[in-house]
Amino acid sequence: MTKVFLIGAGPGDAELLTVKALRLLGQADVVLHDSLVGPDILALARADARLVDVGKRCGRHSASQQEICALLVAEARGGAMVVRLKGGDPMIFGRATEEMAELTRHGIGFEVIPGVTAATAAAAALGVSLTRRGVASSLHFLAGHGAQSGLPAHDWLALTKSGGTLVVYMGGLSLAGLAAQFIEAGMAPDTPALAVENASLPGQRVVEGTLASLPGQMAAAPASGPVLVMIGPAFSPGESRHIKSDR
Ligand SMILES: C[S@@+](CC[C@H](N)C(=O)[O-])C[C@H]1O[C@@H](n2cnc3c(N)ncnc32)[C@H](O)[C@@H]1O
Repeated sequence: MTKVFLIGAGPGDAELLTVKALRLLGQADVVLHDSLVGPDILALARADARLVDVGKRCGRHSASQQEICALLVAEARGGAMVVRLKGGDPMIFGRATEEMAELTRHGIGFEVIPGVTAATAAAAALGVSLTRRGVASSLHFLAGHGAQSGLPAHDWLALTKSGGTLVVYMGGLSLAGLAAQFIEAGMAPDTPALAVENASLPGQRVVEGTLASLPGQMAAAPASGPVLVMIGPAFSPGESRHIKSDR
């Protein structure tokens, strides 16, 4: 029975793949991958596997979600062992729902193999725990842009009141608007905020600032790779941490 494997490729470092992901990648006939999945990881696919870049970054689609779903179904129906390789974890801002639904609709089975998400890779790279007893007792993963464009309609007040750690995916371009929303909701402008670009990769860069300063810092030195924005008291200079600025 044909089955599609939705696999998390992790944040970029090939050594962060799970053992299961590595094994399946080495067996697949076809690998449909995102653009964030780098050459080191793709090199682990079977030598004669077909690699198809269906990548999309920050709304710049090279194949629409509908086309990707159709391709998944067509390849699986053709009898190929199909791996759908997604950056980070497939279940976090990975459009896995649409793909699982389409496979189910066509009676095709699937299995999801989790991956290391960008937030935990960035935490490891920073040497900062995202939760900390008495300092940050909740962790929130937010999208930095909405289904259309612009900021999603988050409950800025509730997030501010939570006092927890906020991790913003896809927030590089909307950082100024995001910071303004939190400040308007009452978050202190000097709340620690960091941007981590290319977490786990050789081009890793960390920009440290505050909610008020980070947008200007990032505008002065724009990122070229994926960026994660992290906000909250867990990143206070007084907290236990071992921030390394690059890899
Ligand atoms: C469409 S989301 C996919 C998230 C992915 N499923 C995950 O679990 O990490 C893409 C966003 O993830 C973040 N991201 C992915 N890889 C990253 C990396 N190596 N360093 C920093 N941020 C990364 C960026 O915010 C990027 O815009």
